[in-house]
Amino acid sequence: MSEQNVGMTKTTPQQVIIATLAGLFAPLLAIFLVIQLVLGIQSGHSNKVTADTSDTAVIERIKPVGEVKVVDANAPKVEKSGEEVFNAVCTACHTPGALGAPKYGNKGDWGPRIAQGYQTLIKHAIEGIRQMPARGGDAELSDTEMARAVAYMANSAGAKFTAPEPAAAPAPAAAAAPADAAKK
Ligand code: HEC
Repeated sequence: MSEQNVGMTKTTPQQVIIATLAGLFAPLLAIFLVIQLVLGIQSGHSNKVTADTSDTAVIERIKPVGEVKVVDANAPKVEKSGEEVFNAVCTACHTPGALGAPKYGNKGDWGPRIAQGYQTLIKHAIEGIRQMPARGGDAELSDTEMARAVAYMANSAGAKFTAPEPAAAPAPAAAAAPADAAKK
């Protein structure tokens, strides 16, 4: 009995130390992991909110909606100038000459096209022709804005087209009036 006890007490201190260390370490590890988890969740949330949601996604989602509302609410639609339309839409293809588009300011590219006449060019720009998408791919552009953009580009290459002035825009004004009335 006593020898057995001695034998047991010989091994016990090591076991006690191991058990004590393990007993201390296990909860500490658990607490550490819980803290890591909480911090990880928090940083994940804050990253999404600051970087993704608020900066990129929210701005991108709010912007088009705001623009559409402004266009609908203001009775006389504020129409862009030819230069503004060009810089917003047409420049993508007509500055580098992508897909064979006549380059801005290039008389060789535009000469034969200008010879077709202003109205034909406007028609082709609005309806699209071959690789040229209808309204340059932006369905929101009005006929007046298209005519101005065509004049802006053609005049850069030697044409002398007179772009429609804001007052001479009966179609968009008429289209905007019912939309405005419907809002009220
Ligand atoms: C996706 C590229 C692209 C965009 C954006 C684009 N165009 Fe074009 N455009 C072309 C191509 C390509 C042609 C040449 C088509 C052909 O003759 O085969 C062309 C030709 C034209 C022509 C000459 C048509 C004719 O009868 O010769 C006009 C005018 C024109 N574009 C106006 C515009 C205007 C205005 C915008 C902006 C609102 C615009 N384009 C945006 C690609 C584009």
